[in-house]
Amino acid sequence: MTSLEEKIKKLADLILETNNIVALTGAGMSTESGIADFRSSGIGLWQKVDPYEFASIHSYVANTSKNLEFMLETGRNIFRARPNKGHKALTKLQKLGKLKGLLTQNIDRLHHKAKTKNIVEFHGNAYEAKCMTCGQVYEITVMVNQVMKGNYSPSCEKCRGMLKPNAIFFGELLESKTLEAADKMIVDCELLLVLGSSLVVYPVAFYPPKVLSYGAKLAIINIQETDMDTLAEVVIHEKIGEILPKVVTIVENQISHNK
Ligand SMILES: NC(=O)c1ccc[n+]([C@@H]2O[C@H](COP(=O)([O-])OP(=O)(O)OC[C@H]3O[C@@H](n4cnc5c(N)ncnc54)[C@H](O)[C@@H]3O)[C@@H](O)[C@H]2O)c1
Ligand SMILES: [Zn+2]
Repeated sequence: MTSLEEKIKKLADLILETNNIVALTGAGMSTESGIADFRSSGIGLWQKVDPYEFASIHSYVANTSKNLEFMLETGRNIFRARPNKGHKALTKLQKLGKLKGLLTQNIDRLHHKAKTKNIVEFHGNAYEAKCMTCGQVYEITVMVNQVMKGNYSPSCEKCRGMLKPNAIFFGELLESKTLEAADKMIVDCELLLVLGSSLVVYPVAFYPPKVLSYGAKLAIINIQETDMDTLAEVVIHEKIGEILPKVVTIVENQISHNK
């Protein structure tokens, strides 16, 4: 059996082989920043609430005030959160010329706060609101201010249509420009680094098999097993914040040694 140190070294070696790496990050990226994921055993959000009651477009329209209360609560936690060691390690990897960009399922913008560049947000973000009628995008404060004043049907300043957070809910399609940007990013990628995703949410979960079909390699850091572990060159079942900084330090040392 390969030891953890050997796996860390193997991942660093894979990273050293190429300058064309894309990261694919899920909710597990942000648990060390205090934001609950959906599917971690015992503590994931889905063990506390019903996803179809609180994160589907149908329930949002049918029961807006109940949904908004839940969203305000989770939103406050997201806005307070700071990037963790994993986010910072990715930014460092990018500064070393290794990480081309990243695809994220997260809506928390912690990669932006960590100053990583070239980010595709599959599921939108929690910092904006969008009009469900005309598509106008606002800062989330526009919507929150209305709710705080007791208006539980927040509306668009242009057309009075209903506002929703600019994050993708269950029952909504991803925007085609998002999928195009993601496809463009992975087309010549040589290593896809999956961090903290259960890889069960589609279409995001199509990306690992897709990059493999282009001849790229796959590496996964995730506490729990995923169905795609067997496809990866390296799989590490540990916390991202504990492993990724070690990997990046090895990469950094090797690069400065080679100079
Ligand atoms: N932070 C956020 O923005 C946030 C939080 C919850 C859910 N979501 C949304 O819900 C969807 C859930 O899908 P998902 O696949 O991203 O998440 P998920 O909850 O389905 O899976 C997260 C995975 O990360 C693993 N994990 C948790 N903490 C970890 C850590 N510190 N290190 C390594 N692995 C860790 C868990 O074992 C789990 O397998 C996403 O698409 C996203 O849109 C976003
Ligand atoms: Zn509008």
